[in-house]
Amino acid sequence: MTRNIVISGGGTGIGLATAQMFAADGDRVLLLGRRAEVLEKAGVPGSVTCAADLTRPADVRRVAEFVARELGTVDVLVHSAGGAGGQHPPAGADDPLEQVAHAWTDNFRLNTLTAALLTEALKDRLAEPGGRVLFLSSIAAYRGSGSGAYAASKAALHPYAHDLARQLGPHGITVNVVAPGYIEDTEFFGAGPAPERRAQLIAETSTGRAGIPGDVAATLHWLASPAAAHVTSQIIQVNGGAERGH
Ligand SMILES: NC(=O)c1ccc[n+]([C@@H]2O[C@H](COP(=O)([O-])OP(=O)(O)OC[C@H]3O[C@@H](n4cnc5c(N)ncnc54)[C@H](OP(=O)(O)O)[C@@H]3O)[C@@H](O)[C@H]2O)c1
Repeated sequence: MTRNIVISGGGTGIGLATAQMFAADGDRVLLLGRRAEVLEKAGVPGSVTCAADLTRPADVRRVAEFVARELGTVDVLVHSAGGAGGQHPPAGADDPLEQVAHAWTDNFRLNTLTAALLTEALKDRLAEPGGRVLFLSSIAAYRGSGSGAYAASKAALHPYAHDLARQLGPHGITVNVVAPGYIEDTEFFGAGPAPERRAQLIAETSTGRAGIPGDVAATLHWLASPAAAHVTSQIIQVNGGAERGH
């Protein structure tokens, strides 16, 4: 049966690998992201695209209208939009507290608000039974991320997922979170971490390697499958054991 899959951040990295995995099943995939050209160039077979800044309620409303028109029902909703925001304070914001305010606001808008707005906009369209909501958290939610803001904005998704799982469970919908460790070949780190930092991130794993987008996509794909129908309100870590430390 062809399913309808909505993936925020679907034009790059983990979102794109996930889109390709569902498309290989013959599913219909909607890719969301801010850059229309990136979504179009992604080249996911049979996909449709809708460019939107998911921090903006008006854009999310437009996405919901697009989904109503083009898809109708949403079988799987994957929230891969996000990143370490607040790195570049606006010009003139040299006051330290202004910079703190910028970093925390930016991270919560990018990682928490995008997921909450899109979920609330599409919640009534989730397939009953069988619908799936999947959030992307991070190893940072367990260990911190340096400044705290990115980590906190990801950790905020955990209780939201628990509340949604309770609310949607009676309708046959599961809600889960996947928390990756260091994943290469995405736009998350820009040009990539410095070689010493990369070596350190790999040394923290028990598997002795960096994660790849396909590692996370495969976990999301499984959580969206009938085999995972009784798995809900969980946070699944995909980090080669790095969270345990070495
Ligand atoms: N890579 C890692 O090591 C790692 C580790 C832990 C968690 N994660 C999480 O995994 C998720 C995917 O990250 P990734 O590594 O695949 O990085 P990525 O390639 O940078 O993907 C992030 C995607 O989000 C989209 N996006 C950002 N802001 C948006 C907005 N306001 N509205 C709509 N779309 C937006 C971006 O596209 P546009 O710029 O075109 O909008 C991009 O396609 C993120 O939530 C990230 O925090 C990544």
